[in-house]
Amino acid sequence: MTDITPLLTPVELGGLRLPNRVVMAPITRARATADGVPTELHAAYYGQRATAGLIITEGTWVGERAIGFPGVPGLHRPEQVVAWRRVTDVVHALGGRIAAQLWHAGPGSPAELSVADLRVVAADFRAAARCAREAGFDGVEVHAVGDFLLPRFLNPRTNRRTDRYAGGRLLLDVVDAVVGEWGGRRVGVRLSPYWSTTEGFVPDESTLDAYDGHVAGLAEYPLAYLHLRGPEAFDPDHTPFRRYRALFTGPLVVNLGFTRAAADDVVACGVADAVSFATHYIANPDLVARFALRHALAVGDPATYYRGGAEGYVDYPEHRPRVLSSSGSAAETTPPARG
Ligand SMILES: Cc1cc2nc3c(=O)[nH]c(=O)nc-3n(C[C@H](O)[C@H](O)[C@H](O)COP(=O)(O)O)c2cc1C
Repeated sequence: MTDITPLLTPVELGGLRLPNRVVMAPITRARATADGVPTELHAAYYGQRATAGLIITEGTWVGERAIGFPGVPGLHRPEQVVAWRRVTDVVHALGGRIAAQLWHAGPGSPAELSVADLRVVAADFRAAARCAREAGFDGVEVHAVGDFLLPRFLNPRTNRRTDRYAGGRLLLDVVDAVVGEWGGRRVGVRLSPYWSTTEGFVPDESTLDAYDGHVAGLAEYPLAYLHLRGPEAFDPDHTPFRRYRALFTGPLVVNLGFTRAAADDVVACGVADAVSFATHYIANPDLVARFALRHALAVGDPATYYRGGAEGYVDYPEHRPRVLSSSGSAAETTPPARG
């Protein structure tokens, strides 16, 4: 009998072949330089997590106009490409796969932005997608969740336009631009009708209907995957994700609040192809090993999430397993002597 559960079996997401279905979700950690350049700490942090089936980086700015917060890296200037190359080289040397999450937090509402502005948005995504190739990434993910430029256009409450940019056109223009650089099978898209532009927002039927249309539009592309973030209240029957499984035939990655058991279940019942974890990955660099060996998970310190520096970033230890001795009693393993 094997103890290897569905989450720990290989899967193909478009053109990406993963040895397991444990995905590291995008996690902003605010450790880049003031110029938005990743550092050696990024290489260590992502390298520690290289056993993930797929790492999705923290959101990275697609251009100067996209910048929203300090400490977040960019992927649009040559020195950023060089620094990211160091990160991807380390992850690849350790056997991992890594996709860059492309993010635009620029100002402006759907009512304010001109057609020319929106063409520039798609062009910035395209240029960053090209930079991601030069930096050695295995793919890219379009960030279209939260209170940012793309999701403002996806929600009918915030997008009242009646021109070309009514509905989901801006997202599809961005996907066209990115697919133009990569081909669709290396491009993922992250969506959520539940994580929105207004505090305490609960999507009404018109929002859910609009997202049905967006997902159906994306189903026309041979995407690597659709990455869905579910509602804050975890549903053990996975009902919110089933709605999109029926609309999108490509690979689905699901997120928010999953335990190992719930992740196994959502894969076993065929609703999702992989599951992404954010908070667990902050404190458990060896999350795949902990799942495989059924070891306890560590809990991260939220005070260090965005604080900068090595503390709370690259100093979460790997779990030291307890093994059974020949007498059958549990014993702590000792690390091999150095030197
Ligand atoms: C510190 C922190 C930073 C995050 N940064 C991003 C980000 O850059 N891009 C993104 O799409 N989601 C981001 N998220 C959301 C996570 O990817 C994920 O959706 C959320 O934490 C729920 O997953 P979990 O239950 O596994 O933690 C962030 C979450 C946390 C806690």
